[in-house]
Amino acid sequence: MKTAAISSELRARFAQASHALVLTGAGVSAESGVPTFRGGGNSAAWKGMPFDVISSAEMVQRNLPAVWEWFDYRRGILESLKPNPAHLEIAQWPKRFREFTLVTQNVDGLHQQAGSLNVVELHGNIWSARCVKCEFRSQIISGVAREDTCLECGERLRPDVVLFGEMLPPGAFEHAALKASQSDLCFVVGTSALVYPAASLPEIAKNSGAYLCEINPERTGLSSLCDEVINGPAGEIIPLFGEIIPQTISAGQT
Ligand code: APR
Repeated sequence: MKTAAISSELRARFAQASHALVLTGAGVSAESGVPTFRGGGNSAAWKGMPFDVISSAEMVQRNLPAVWEWFDYRRGILESLKPNPAHLEIAQWPKRFREFTLVTQNVDGLHQQAGSLNVVELHGNIWSARCVKCEFRSQIISGVAREDTCLECGERLRPDVVLFGEMLPPGAFEHAALKASQSDLCFVVGTSALVYPAASLPEIAKNSGAYLCEINPERTGLSSLCDEVINGPAGEIIPLFGEIIPQTISAGQT
């Protein structure tokens, strides 16, 4: 990808910003081999069921084993996948800004695998299970049989992921919205921006004066709001920032 993809305006903003926020979606993991839900005119389905049916609170009530089958399948795909250059570059960005916030809609854990810390996971994490009744959670480890039953109260465990028809984890969105309102640079990477409240974060950042840049091979409902739209794959574009924009500050420098 040509460095020209990044305008001189964006280079200057990137070099001078103090508070940056990045919101990512499934597209940032696409080049790692993680299927997206939408995009390219298609949407994911499982055994003939649209993903927003199998991934719903209603299905947990009706048929939890089927929901687990779908998430076991997705974890199976993830087991052999690695972070791509976009994840790896973003993991370096805390060193580039006085304050940096990474918010993701993804449940794949690839940002953390790339070395990102304090990732705000709006939709939970596929490597975690939680009790349908109490607050008990258990980590799911690749290659180890997954727990089915809560060790605290004996109830069933379900995927610790936000399903359609459910609220986000308490505080996650509020924290992200506060950081968005304080940011002076906001990137929206690999999301169709169709799912709220996540898709409102770039609007909050923009309305608070941030320079808003979208990175996505396709236009989205957010594109017209953005100061800059770079239509291309995140794994090719994001590393350019590390390549062409020299580091000006180190975290915590006053
Ligand atoms: N680089 C950047 N963006 C990409 C790439 C890529 N290599 N490949 C695809 N995309 C873009 C697509 O054009 C699309 O706009 O990523 C976006 C993926 O959109 P969705 O599949 O809708 O994923 P996302 O926006 O993260 O979905 C939001 O919906 O299904 C629920 O809870 C689930 O978190 C998910 C939420």
